[in-house]
Amino acid sequence: MPDANNPSAAPNPHLAQYQARGLKGRILSGVQPTGNLHLGNYLGAIRNFARLQSDYECLYCVVDMHAITVWQEPKDVIPQTREIAAAFLAAGVDGTKNAIFNQSAVPEHAQLAWIFNCVARLGWMNRMTQFKEKAGKDRENASLGLYAYPALMAADILIYKATHVPVGEDQKQHLELTRDIAVKFNNDFNVPDFFPVTEPLIFGAATRVMSLRDGTKKMSKSDPSDFSRINLTDDADAIAQKIRRAKTDPHPMPETLEDAEKRPDADNLLGIYAALADRGKADVIAEFAGKQFSEFKSALTDLAVTKLGPVGAEMQRLMKDPGHVDSVLKAGAEKARALAAPILADVYKTVGFLRP
Ligand code: TRP
Repeated sequence: MPDANNPSAAPNPHLAQYQARGLKGRILSGVQPTGNLHLGNYLGAIRNFARLQSDYECLYCVVDMHAITVWQEPKDVIPQTREIAAAFLAAGVDGTKNAIFNQSAVPEHAQLAWIFNCVARLGWMNRMTQFKEKAGKDRENASLGLYAYPALMAADILIYKATHVPVGEDQKQHLELTRDIAVKFNNDFNVPDFFPVTEPLIFGAATRVMSLRDGTKKMSKSDPSDFSRINLTDDADAIAQKIRRAKTDPHPMPETLEDAEKRPDADNLLGIYAALADRGKADVIAEFAGKQFSEFKSALTDLAVTKLGPVGAEMQRLMKDPGHVDSVLKAGAEKARALAAPILADVYKTVGFLRP
């Protein structure tokens, strides 16, 4: 992807309005309401959301329409949507300054997605690796929505002409597709610079948090063992127990980065420590080099309880107050719609639709 800081790149006409307000741009990000949030979701995405709000105008979306591309029990969708909103708030996102909302409450996402279904090419969609992974062997039986998922994601971003999207490794390809759709729309309809070519914002350490039972596998909500992950709502005892039982190897703590990289379980725990402490991994390795895992694990437990305890407690508190969470989501949806509606109107006009 082109470098935002590359001085030879053409100036981005979408940035000026934000720069005039002392901001770097507009961010849109989405999280699916598909069940328990864990440490990987927190360190890889949600924690960063709060950190971005001083530099960017931010829209944070609970993507319920993406969630149903695979089966969701209808009775679970509302509590899961509130859980994600509660996590945003507990992580420090200011719901009055920014918009926190659920995707289905802003119909312009779906409306733009249909247009994008007609812009994106089958050849592009066929290259999406996440579809192949999620559809598995029985591709004939995957939903059409799962196939179109990346075009809806492009609509989430471009319905606000978002200039930046924070992305982990696994969403890079979808952001590339979003950029391809923006460029093709601008070209096909001869509206240069109508949609921005959205830039990725990549975060450093520990965007990849691995399973506590197997340092070569990603931490995942679908792992049958709850000991493989730290859930955001785990209390101090659960956190301590899971770290105590986390897989290690028989050697003392690694002495160098190279040594750590060859030992996935140790590397994962060191990465988690570094991310929670906001320190470099090399620095953490130097501190614990050659020590016993037991000593490191008790330091990691203290750190995790200090950093995650308040977030989990605040989430629990908010989940007992759904009326408040819903009021945040309602205000967020209103704010988001006010931004999306005029952009959709421009798109409809550009495409040539009659507006009687
Ligand atoms: N596909 C993203 C994920 O599974 C969620 C998502 C949907 C998203 N729309 C988005 C992320 C827009 C960033 C921007 O993690």
